[in-house]
Amino acid sequence: MKLFLDTANVDYVAEIAEWGVLDGVTTNPSLVAKEGKDFKQTVLGMCKHVSCVSAQVTATDAKGMIKQGEEYASWHKHVVVKVPMTTEGLKALKYFRSKGIKTNTTLVFSVSQAILAAKAGANIISPFIGRLDDASEDGMGLIAEIMEAWSNYKFDCEVLVASTRHPRHIVDAARLGAHICTIPYDVFKKLPMHPLTDSGVKKFLEDWEKVKKG
Ligand code: G3P
Repeated sequence: MKLFLDTANVDYVAEIAEWGVLDGVTTNPSLVAKEGKDFKQTVLGMCKHVSCVSAQVTATDAKGMIKQGEEYASWHKHVVVKVPMTTEGLKALKYFRSKGIKTNTTLVFSVSQAILAAKAGANIISPFIGRLDDASEDGMGLIAEIMEAWSNYKFDCEVLVASTRHPRHIVDAARLGAHICTIPYDVFKKLPMHPLTDSGVKKFLEDWEKVKKG
C-alpha cells in the first residue's frame, strides 16, 4: 500500500519523507490557498522528496484542463495532473492518457464515477471518504464496493482513499486492498504512536541504566 501526504506544505513533506515511508503527495486548491505560497514552487519543492505529486487543474472545460495540465506536467516528471470527476474531466483524462501524462481523478463519490474515470484513462481515482461520512453516508463502504468492482477487471488505475480523517481509515483501507491512502499531516503523525511502545522504550532504558551501574 502506498502512503501519500495530503498537504501543500513542503516542510511537512520533507519531515515525513525522512521517515522513509512516504510515496507521494496530494495537493488541492484549498490546501494551496491555506499555505499562501507560490503553487509552482510548492509543487517543485515537493517533487524533490517524492516521485508522485498531484497538482490540480482549476479550469472547468476540457480545453482549459488540458492547457493547465500540460503546463504542470512540463514542470517536473513527478507531477501527476489532478482532474475533477466531470464529463469535461473525462475528456481531458482521455487526452492525457494518449499523451502519457499521469492523472489522478478527484472528487469521486460513487462506483459509477470510478468506473468512468478508469475507462477514460485515469491512472488514479480519489474517492473522498470523510466527506461521505460527513453527509451520513458510508465512505469506507464505497471503497469496499470499488475494490470489489476492481477485482472483476484489470483496470490500469489505482484506488486512492482520500479525505481520510483518522488512523483507523488507513487500517480499514489497507484491509480492503486499496492501493493508496492520502493522509493529512496531523493524522500521519499519529500513525507511529502507541503508548505501549513509549512505556516499553522507557522501561528498557531504565533497566539498561541498572546494567551499566553493575
Ligand atoms: O486531497 C483531497 C482530500 O483528501 C480532501 O480532504 O478533508 O478536505 O475532505 P478533506
